[in-house]
Amino acid sequence: MKLSHVIESQQFTVPLIHELFARARQMEATVRHGGTRDYERRIMATLFYGSSTRTRFSFEAAMQRLGGRVLSTESAQDFSSEIPGEHLEDTIRIIGGMCDLIVLRSRERDGAKRAAAISPVPVINAGDGEGGQHPTQALLDLYTIQQECRTVNGLTVVFMGALDAGRTVRSLAYLLGKVERNRLIFVAPPEVQIAKDILRYLDDHGVRYELTSDPAKVLPQADVVYQTRIDPDRLRSLDVKPAAYNLDLETLARLKPSSVLLHPLPRSVEIDPAVDQDPRAAYFRQARNGLFVRMALLTMLLEP
Ligand code: CP
Repeated sequence: MKLSHVIESQQFTVPLIHELFARARQMEATVRHGGTRDYERRIMATLFYGSSTRTRFSFEAAMQRLGGRVLSTESAQDFSSEIPGEHLEDTIRIIGGMCDLIVLRSRERDGAKRAAAISPVPVINAGDGEGGQHPTQALLDLYTIQQECRTVNGLTVVFMGALDAGRTVRSLAYLLGKVERNRLIFVAPPEVQIAKDILRYLDDHGVRYELTSDPAKVLPQADVVYQTRIDPDRLRSLDVKPAAYNLDLETLARLKPSSVLLHPLPRSVEIDPAVDQDPRAAYFRQARNGLFVRMALLTMLLEP
């Protein structure tokens, strides 16, 4: 199956997800053998309005492992000649005339959608504005769940942190709503709970979910814990104990032996580094999977 653009999680059907995962597994073998030259005539541009370590490096490594070349700018608002008031569309038209694919991290929630509407080449949303989406992160998250749990169906997935504006949680919730019989539990203080548009989507698709502010009640049920960033100052302003939603060795003891612990990273205080040694801590394997999933996506977008 060929893809035109990657803009939001909702566009991925279950067959498309399975094809992507099959390709990602092949890419693991390709990387073990040092990569391929299959895409040596192709050029990818990464245009990031904002900083990134994982997403930009893994896309760039992915293209280079496929034999392709990369044009890149981070903090494009500072390191390109885009002037205040210049339209994103103009920039995309220019860059799209020089490459075969654009990876875009926009500051605007609909930036990737607007770019795709006029781009002469495929556009990948590498994370858009606050409360937007990060679909390639969600795809690598789901791939990691498949690799770690040996299934993406029938799981209890606990999301914990500041969930209201988290684009990775939003995108993964959409994807988990596509696969079968999962139960999603959103754990956060009420003021930063998951947004209503996601709950409406889950309702419309018959996905079971619960909202709670009590981690202790639900962590023992989790097959997957998806921890996200939470600003301690924000919790203090809500009169919540800053450590209430953190994971440390004490909370880890409440998890099932088979649980898998994910985090899109970067992390701050919400996961104690002591947890890293536990075999259930899969977040560095998760980040590594970004390389294979993004290689697979590039092949699906660049296929003639
Ligand atoms: N997970 C993620 O998007 O990380 P970066 O901001 O480093 O790309």
